[in-house]
Amino acid sequence: MVTKNLVRKALDKVLVPGVMRNLIQMNLVRSIEIKGGEVKITLASTAISAQSQDWLRDKVITVVSELSEVKEVVVDLVEVKPKELNQIQSIIAVMSGKGGVGKSLVAGLLAVAFARDGKEVGVLDADITGPSIPKMFGLNVHPAGNETGILPILSKSGIEVMSMNLLLPNEDEAVIWRGPLMSKAITQFWEEVLWGKLDYLVVDLPPGTADAALTVLQTLPLSGVVEIFTPQELTGMIVRKAVKMARKLDVRVLGVIENMSYLLLPETGKKLEVFGRSKGDEMAKASEAPLLGRLPIDPQLAKLCDEGNIERYSSDALSQIFANVGAALNESK
Ligand SMILES: Nc1ncnc2c1ncn2[C@@H]1O[C@H](COP(=O)(O)OP(=O)(O)OP(=O)(O)O)[C@@H](O)[C@H]1O
Ligand SMILES: [Mg+2]
Repeated sequence: MVTKNLVRKALDKVLVPGVMRNLIQMNLVRSIEIKGGEVKITLASTAISAQSQDWLRDKVITVVSELSEVKEVVVDLVEVKPKELNQIQSIIAVMSGKGGVGKSLVAGLLAVAFARDGKEVGVLDADITGPSIPKMFGLNVHPAGNETGILPILSKSGIEVMSMNLLLPNEDEAVIWRGPLMSKAITQFWEEVLWGKLDYLVVDLPPGTADAALTVLQTLPLSGVVEIFTPQELTGMIVRKAVKMARKLDVRVLGVIENMSYLLLPETGKKLEVFGRSKGDEMAKASEAPLLGRLPIDPQLAKLCDEGNIERYSSDALSQIFANVGAALNESK
């Protein structure tokens, strides 16, 4: 006998054009009704072009008709807002008081570590005027979509990415926008992008505590923020500012990460603290949150990022950070 479960399993095989994740993963299946041999499936047509909608309908009819005892398949397409379809378990924002400390790199690496663990992951690049996520992942294609929403771009290892850079006619184009427009773009990345079902969404913020950070902290249902700093930080003041902002807005600080913490000398395995002694414990204390890890200066990592191959990076330091972020998230549940 044909059951909803069997139909759902068949729909598992249908990839959504433009994003290459299946209908179930993108949460586009709204209902399945079975009466005798007749199967009626309602799909959301969100972010899918008219041409792809026809292809999708035919594909669904084909795969479901193959199930035994199915006599007729009817597919209805309905418009649903992406926001109603997005189901995201944990949203983590990566922030820092200062620029150039490695937020984007850590945001990218966190996504890579989650995906390697078999999780469904997305990265929302909330740095509208200085987006750097697409370059790290080697992405430069334009997202597909329709008037109801747009689809993220899938990275080589299947991480969903949305960034201003993907929407520009040419990636060198400058976006010269004031705060309100920037906030609007971030809100749209949240409300009008079809992320579908995800275990983790990592949000890469521009530096500081201005409009973009405020929009993300106020608009997105964050599980928590991760604060990045380097040993060059002179005082805990800048880190504390960002942490205070999160607290004021009732967002949990999952912890702090020290980037460019040391250089690993390959000959001896010794850690050379190029920028001075680690400020890890001091910053953890200043922010009243745990030190989630220390990431070394790694020329290989910089090279992989420049080449768009961040997904190839792995190290003990990253595994440690991944485990600690996971633990911090579990604590907040
Ligand atoms: N641990 C590291 N080892 C080697 N290179 C690194 C490391 N961390 C960051 N970098 C390099 O430093 C540069 C700045 O990093 P990144 O873009 O992640 O900083 P950011 O905090 O996001 O900057 P912005 O404030 O401009 O958004 C990049 O070229 C990156 O590849
Ligand atoms: Mg950045």
